[in-house]
Amino acid sequence: MGHGIAQVHAVIGKVVVLYEPDLGRAEAGRSRIADNLARGVAKGRLTAEARDEALARVHATDRLDAVADADLAIEAVFEDVDVKSRLWAGLDGLAPGRTIFASNTSSISIDRLAEGLAAARRPAFVGMHFFSPVPVMPLIELIRGSETDDATETAVRALAGELGKQVIVSADRPGFIVNRILMPFLGEAMRACEAGLGTAEDIDTGARIGLNHPMGPLALADFIGLDVCLNIMRVLHEGLGDAQFRPPAVLEELVAAGHLGQKTGRGFYSYPR
Ligand code: CAA
Repeated sequence: MGHGIAQVHAVIGKVVVLYEPDLGRAEAGRSRIADNLARGVAKGRLTAEARDEALARVHATDRLDAVADADLAIEAVFEDVDVKSRLWAGLDGLAPGRTIFASNTSSISIDRLAEGLAAARRPAFVGMHFFSPVPVMPLIELIRGSETDDATETAVRALAGELGKQVIVSADRPGFIVNRILMPFLGEAMRACEAGLGTAEDIDTGARIGLNHPMGPLALADFIGLDVCLNIMRVLHEGLGDAQFRPPAVLEELVAAGHLGQKTGRGFYSYPR
């Protein structure tokens, strides 16, 4: 998600610093942006000049103190409360008071993530949940924590407008709006597959042709990442307690075996590399 979020900001004229603790990974993210923009030029969506200018605005770094110049910091790390909280605590000490902190969390509570921040920062901490692929999906889910202030919501709404994305507002509850709806759907498709109700292809074709979804649920889970789906389902199940959110055994098994979907070449489907 990180490179997609960086890309859409660079395209609308923002200077973006793409941080990863490993510089090679930050540079790989920048290369993916270059590839995506080149595809956009080939398809006539932007000019070669606009591509070059957008790419020149993206800087890869492994230095967390790059946040010292930031108006906005967007965190898009693995869906793990400890990993996210550690990163935010580090940024809090380095960012100026004006910096808005936005988490691209897809399920973890904003209040929970705000716990490690200085009290003065919490009004500027907000959930800004993008959807994959970020350049294509026109939605941002905005989540206000109990201390998020109006100025922060106004700034995020203005930015979403510049990005051409529509905002929906969710209460700060596990999975927010979209994943609370999506994950039981994906989970049920996985259980149907596991129970032999139909092949993976037929389950997906049912959703694509019968429900007019762009992708079937099993292909979508592979696209999102099975580890990501598992983590979101765990947050939903622990937070809401309802059996409909329990991760299916087949998902636990695939993740334990390292089959995480498209990114590893195997999930519910195989992806020749
Ligand atoms: N980056 C940038 N652009 C991309 C892209 C990417 N990774 N993947 C596809 N695109 C663009 C293509 O360039 C193409 O653009 P044009 O129409 O201008 O040519 C367009 O998207 C359609 O792509 P394709 O023709 O290659 O393929 P497609 O028609 O099958 O669409 C898809 C691909 C957009 C991914 C479509 O299948 C889709 O919308 N799938 C559902 C995606 C979805 O549900 N995302 C939300 C996941 S949930 C989430 O992200 C949140 C969470 O917390 C889990």
